[in-house]
Amino acid sequence: MSLSGPRVRHPLPAARWPTREEAAGSRWFSPIRIGRSLTAAERTWVPAMVPWRATDDGLVTPEVLDWYARFADGQPGVLVVEATGIRDIASGPLLRIGDDRFVPGLRTLVDTVREHSRGRTRLFIQILDFVTVRRRPEPERFFGRYLEVTDALRGQLALWLDDPRWREAPDQRVREFLLTADRVTIETVLNDRELEALDYGYRERIWDTHLPHIKALPLVLPGLFASAALRAREAGFDGVELHYAHAYTMASFLSRLNVRRDGYGGSRENRVRLPLEALAAVRARVGDDYVVGIRYLGDEVIEGGSDLDDAIWFGVQFAGAGVDYLSVSKGGRFEDAKQPKIGEAVYPYTGPSGYECMPTVISDASGPFGRNVPLAAAIRRAIRGAGWQTPVVTSGGISTFEQAEAILEKGEADCVAAARQTLADPDWFRKIRLGYGDRVRRCEFTNYCEGLDQRHKQVTCKLWDRAFDAADPAVRLASDGRRRLSAPPWSPSED
Ligand SMILES: Cc1cc2nc3c(=O)[nH]c(=O)nc-3n(C[C@H](O)[C@H](O)[C@H](O)COP(=O)(O)O)c2cc1C
Ligand code: SF4
Repeated sequence: MSLSGPRVRHPLPAARWPTREEAAGSRWFSPIRIGRSLTAAERTWVPAMVPWRATDDGLVTPEVLDWYARFADGQPGVLVVEATGIRDIASGPLLRIGDDRFVPGLRTLVDTVREHSRGRTRLFIQILDFVTVRRRPEPERFFGRYLEVTDALRGQLALWLDDPRWREAPDQRVREFLLTADRVTIETVLNDRELEALDYGYRERIWDTHLPHIKALPLVLPGLFASAALRAREAGFDGVELHYAHAYTMASFLSRLNVRRDGYGGSRENRVRLPLEALAAVRARVGDDYVVGIRYLGDEVIEGGSDLDDAIWFGVQFAGAGVDYLSVSKGGRFEDAKQPKIGEAVYPYTGPSGYECMPTVISDASGPFGRNVPLAAAIRRAIRGAGWQTPVVTSGGISTFEQAEAILEKGEADCVAAARQTLADPDWFRKIRLGYGDRVRRCEFTNYCEGLDQRHKQVTCKLWDRAFDAADPAVRLASDGRRRLSAPPWSPSED
């Protein structure tokens, strides 16, 4: 299902908050076992959110600690640390875990969460791999440097311009000509990938097996995931979440678009092969007692991509292979993303599949609230049908106690996650548990935070800025000096 029919602005769902006693007796605030030996005190869950607060070398900063401390203050059952890179390569202010030097900083993060949640929150870390995506280039740079002048390109020019001399034209002549050529000529002589590199920025595919490092992905990824998972265990995390969702490497292996011909693409069996091999490698390295979860897509929501049928089948394979939980997301792919501005990189949450990943109040008749629950419900049903008890986590537009309780009551999921609502009010789980639900600061689902993420700016919530004094020395500001860096503090005695 993707956005269909006219757009409507949806009001936030009405909320009736439970008393402290009611919360204590509720499903959402009841414990759950995850894996062989871990128990989370509640089924409340904060899924991974990248806040762009690491150093450019991928190290934990005081701002990263502050971000997780605030979530831990709210004492969710499970908190998942942002997508963290498993390679030791530069990737901007994204956390990394591709070398032992990252472990001490991550250990501090674990200690911070333990302290702020008073040991109540279970802490997992999401680990991921991604392939190269470059910024959209200036045409001068593209034609002057990046474009490879191939015989095929010369041949296209010769045909289009009806002049065989182009077949022998020097490199520089071709570049100069293309820079001033009209759009029709450009679209005619460049192939689809070259045109994409010009209009969107160069982007690798996991089926570009002519590139040696892409061909080698099945050889290297299980080991990289396994080493990263072992570092997570050494840093003290309660578990790892393998990021097999959205626009990244493993989701692309699972995609129906994956046409690799080396046994890792094409049929479902082949597409799931590497994700299963990585899971097995991780399990072998961290042992049976350590929690290993997977986040993946219930539907890619792109033309020709994997759908719920695939996801159900993958879910049963993952469960059978011993994964400890499945967190179901939706969409967030590059294939349908909007064209970025020159100098910016394509962002996978700008197209229809991106909408499905982080739905806003401007929606179709179905609205954004709990929009993705049917995917988790169908996957859970199939897994249970196959005899597995693997917990399933759902997320997407969930921001009230009643929504979460209804999902659990109907058996649509085992844990209910909230990303943006928890960003808006990191204390909200604790407020509900203590009977202060009427003090929850409610997310408006208009995606100011996502806009910051898109520009790789420190992520904050617009609601935090409603009432604060920028001159107050206790308030830390984002690096642009205009926004509050963390949510306002709260304690039960406050109004
Ligand atoms: C700022 C921001 C960063 C995010 N980063 C990640 C991420 O690192 N990994 C991931 O799997 N999902 C990420 N997401 C998606 C959320 O985990 C979640 O699936 C999505 O926001 C829908 O849930 P919600 O409606 O409760 O916000 C991010 C979302 C936001 C708003
Ligand atoms: S910025 Fe908007 S969408 Fe994001 S958490 Fe805050 S209120 Fe919700």
